[in-house]
Amino acid sequence: MQTLSSPDSSTSFDMDDWRSGYRSQPNEYAYEISDIEGTIPADLEGTLFRNGPGLLDIGDQSVHHPFDGDGMITSISISQGKAHFRNRFVRTEGYVKEQAAGKPLYRGVFGTQKPGGPLANAFDLRLKNIANTNVIYWGGKLLALWEAAEPHQLDPNTLETLGLDYLNGVLKPGEAFSAHPRIDPGRDRDRTGVSGRAADQPRLINFGVKTGLSSTITLYEFDLKGRLANTHRHNIPGFAFLHDFAITPNYCIFFQNPVSFNPLPYLVGTKGAAECIQFNAKQPTRAIIIPRDGTRSIQTIDLQPCFVFHHANAFETDGKLYLDSVCYQEFPDLKGADNYLEADFSQIPEGQLWRFELDLEKRTSQASCLIERGCEFPDLNPNHVGRPYRYLYIGVAHQTQGNGPLQAVLKHDLATGQEELWSYAPRGFAGEPIFVPKPGSTAEDEGWVLGLFYNAASQCSELLILDAQHIAQGPIATLKLPHHVPYGLHGNFTQGLVITP
Ligand code: CO
Repeated sequence: MQTLSSPDSSTSFDMDDWRSGYRSQPNEYAYEISDIEGTIPADLEGTLFRNGPGLLDIGDQSVHHPFDGDGMITSISISQGKAHFRNRFVRTEGYVKEQAAGKPLYRGVFGTQKPGGPLANAFDLRLKNIANTNVIYWGGKLLALWEAAEPHQLDPNTLETLGLDYLNGVLKPGEAFSAHPRIDPGRDRDRTGVSGRAADQPRLINFGVKTGLSSTITLYEFDLKGRLANTHRHNIPGFAFLHDFAITPNYCIFFQNPVSFNPLPYLVGTKGAAECIQFNAKQPTRAIIIPRDGTRSIQTIDLQPCFVFHHANAFETDGKLYLDSVCYQEFPDLKGADNYLEADFSQIPEGQLWRFELDLEKRTSQASCLIERGCEFPDLNPNHVGRPYRYLYIGVAHQTQGNGPLQAVLKHDLATGQEELWSYAPRGFAGEPIFVPKPGSTAEDEGWVLGLFYNAASQCSELLILDAQHIAQGPIATLKLPHHVPYGLHGNFTQGLVITP
């Protein structure tokens, strides 16, 4: 067990160990997990759905970046102290065609090219909807999400692909629907908005972006049954790389990163689209604040330049708007490495958690760093999304300074600054931690933190269950899979949804 008092180590991991978590997993499994250390809590009941790249190569060609890997869904269903595992690839059009051909037929957004050099790639601007970023159960549907196109619907029991889903006619074919929906818990007792406009019932809120010289953001709110409750569209100037957003009872908030897009290398076939993004350190990051009711105009506030993929949470209090976000000093690309497996961590900026205080009246902002240690994938108690909250859970590097792979889970107390950490270094590697409240709980941190980790010692993955009130004590249950799941991206735990094998 490691705690915050552990000495710093620049050798908290071995590069070959880290790389071994990026092997393709071509197999599809379904079984009851039998190798369990510790005890699964009896009242933990539901299904953890996760998404991420399952294939890191197609035929004998490696992807240029894991973000180009085909989406593979993992479900771990937990009930009465037992757990059932299943994984399955999303049968996207691209996956089916490429598996039949045994080679890449599409260019990846993050630099994967078709065989044959620039000539074979120039002016091929087709997007492969790889459905690899997130998976969420809402309105009776399980949806695999990828931000530049429509979702794929899956059977929650078998993870079988049912086809593209247009959300009952809300989306047009090919229309973007982000991989970062937010669920507003919509509880009356949690009404803290300045005008108390929170919906009474939970809502799924999401957006889609169309970008170029200027950009269009479309916002959607869905009720519990998956019916569209509200939608509105806004134009903003400039190119917009918007991966995530945050919500409060009154607002949706985006950070427009200070980046520009030079499409030439993409058009002529030498680079992927995302490799043509350039960070402009002299431009501010712009907060875009959109009222959720869609009737009032949007506001913008300039912030210090930084690059943000993920927001932890936002809330309104004392007439101010607060945002907690993982910020990079610049766009964290591979810094010239030909291959992501050769990436030099010391050359790539680490994510740090910052709090932004926005004054909507004065249009001013203040920022302070809350977590300096390299971090990514924030989560919190789902009942506090968009509301004041005290506890944040996040994947962190083992060492306190500089960049490194995520190897630990950190709990940060936003009221006291106190931190509790459990690290799986040197041979364990962390994914996104997901907080699950204990049924009937009253304390915000009463519940569990679930994380699908990779153990390089066994070359297999493990689902770790930690008691959120005693993170430093390490997992109370370790569910050992007899194979690995490549490092994933995002997922969700659906409480009460149990999949019977
Ligand atoms: Co994300």
